[in-house]
Amino acid sequence: MIFVFGSINLDMVVALPRLPKAGETVSGPDHQTFPGGKGANQALAARRAGAEVSLTGAVGRDAFAELALANLRAAGVDLQGVRVLDGATGLALIGIDPKGENQIIVASGANIRVEADWLEGRVTSGSTLMLQGEAPLREIRKAMGIAGQTGASVFWNPAPVPQDDLMDCLDRTNTLVVNEGEAAYIAGKLGMPGEPDNFARDGAASGRAVIVTLGSRGIVAAKGEGLFRFAAPQVTAVDTTGAGDAFCGALAAALDLGRPFDRALKEGMAAGALACTVTGAQSSAPDKAEIARLADQIV
Ligand code: RIB
Repeated sequence: MIFVFGSINLDMVVALPRLPKAGETVSGPDHQTFPGGKGANQALAARRAGAEVSLTGAVGRDAFAELALANLRAAGVDLQGVRVLDGATGLALIGIDPKGENQIIVASGANIRVEADWLEGRVTSGSTLMLQGEAPLREIRKAMGIAGQTGASVFWNPAPVPQDDLMDCLDRTNTLVVNEGEAAYIAGKLGMPGEPDNFARDGAASGRAVIVTLGSRGIVAAKGEGLFRFAAPQVTAVDTTGAGDAFCGALAAALDLGRPFDRALKEGMAAGALACTVTGAQSSAPDKAEIARLADQIV
């Protein structure tokens, strides 16, 4: 069972000829609206990958709330931990260039008022607690504490990476997923080597699994004494939004379902690659059969 504690957004996406520089206006055609938010995206990706998933978070009391939850409801994610708070649902304004690269501005809305206490009595021993970086860091810390008390495994994808001391959070994490930029930032803060291989090795020295995603170049990961490196499957990217979330969701699902670590990495990579081929952070999350087919081809 996977418990996700994190953000729920509505994404408004505009395809652009190029991403704007500071102070610049760039126009595209009509916008498209999709459910999003890193917590919700990862919950949906894990569910589509075959795990039982429960999401704890918040939406606002507005017209965006139900739209933001629609995919999760349809996929069978347990939403009993989602509260409706006064104010606005989280909103992301996303520009995508012709190569599928994005620029995202987030209005956090209800997401900055989520409380880790809502997890009390819900997280069970032997389950996985998944966290990202869009909830307040103090609540992420508390959530990790609750996981520690109940014997749940902590899966943390600190994106966006909180600008604070992260050592205590790292100490409580069993599986850490970061991209290269996040690895370099955390390394600078904590005095770790910033280069991906060494970051992963150093982080794994204390017993956790550390995965550094390298975009279209694949991943490097370390667990115990083992170092794993896989090239990314080649796909034609139309929208990279949510690719990291699809990776995390499918990886967490595979680990939660007891797959070997290297197979779980391949399933995460397959999901991340497939997610780049469709527009929208959640609409692109593949199902377990699609994931398995592509994961079989990764060597
Ligand atoms: O990781 C992608 C997500 O980041 C989008 O869905 C958007 O809502 C932002 O939270």
